[in-house]
Amino acid sequence: MAESQPRKCAVWQDLASSQQIHTQGDRVSDDYRTSHCAPGYGTHYNMTYESGYYGALWDKIERPMILDILRPMGGAGRNCLDFACGTGRITNVAAQVFGEVVGVDVSKSMLACAQVPNNVKLRNIDMTMESLEETFDVVTAFRFFLNAEDQLKREALKAINQQLKDGGRLVCNVHMNATSPIGLVCRLLNWSLGRTVRNTLSETRFKKLLTASGFLVEEVIPYGYLPRPGRFLPGICEALIEPFEKLSRTLRVPGQLAQHFLVIARKH
Ligand SMILES: C[S@@+](CC[C@H](N)C(=O)[O-])C[C@H]1O[C@@H](n2cnc3c(N)ncnc32)[C@H](O)[C@@H]1O
Repeated sequence: MAESQPRKCAVWQDLASSQQIHTQGDRVSDDYRTSHCAPGYGTHYNMTYESGYYGALWDKIERPMILDILRPMGGAGRNCLDFACGTGRITNVAAQVFGEVVGVDVSKSMLACAQVPNNVKLRNIDMTMESLEETFDVVTAFRFFLNAEDQLKREALKAINQQLKDGGRLVCNVHMNATSPIGLVCRLLNWSLGRTVRNTLSETRFKKLLTASGFLVEEVIPYGYLPRPGRFLPGICEALIEPFEKLSRTLRVPGQLAQHFLVIARKH
């Protein structure tokens, strides 16, 4: 095991040399559908959440928040589809509160790293091309819409809408809010280089897309107020992310300044 992991990453690194690396979540790929398909990519992806900014955000903010949001929507007789489930990060949270969960992803490499309980089925399909036989109470879709091409965003929302029961809910996120400080830095970088190297998406634009795709936006929850320090100041996120989040909420810091936002939208 100790030997096989570095070998897997080496395969991923070879293949990734012709692709844009975007595991940290905000870089551009040529084709989002195949962007996570290289052998070993799932192992590499999971490392994103082991430490640093994304590790601290996941452990201290995102996971407890998603569980709190999904719990009242769940129940033994209710089902959830985790669209673009990857290595099963959100799938596992959903499995705690829904009787049945289906995780769908186009990448075999990502699914190969998913460890899920018995109430979860994993499917290796592109849901924009092939539909599932059942419909769902809730669909989750995390870390997908920011980097998916506009056409893929629309196709995915159409497919998700079709897989939802009437009145069913989509719970999803955007992990680089265009109006946050780091989002502004990304936009400045794109502008100065004359090309998009980091994707950003604003709440306003995403809401328009959801509305045009047959959803009614019920709630937007901003989170991740601590600006990501990148490779500088290692360890600082783990210590500061939670108190900074609480302080930002207490002081009612505008949500536009948070790096991430979660959206709850109802099919109508
Ligand atoms: C950044 S990962 C997010 C994984 C997981 N949702 C999470 O939050 O950790 C994005 C995933 O979208 C998947 N994906 C891209 N296009 C897709 C499509 N058309 N249908 C299903 N999955 C897709 C990729 O294979 C990748 O696993």
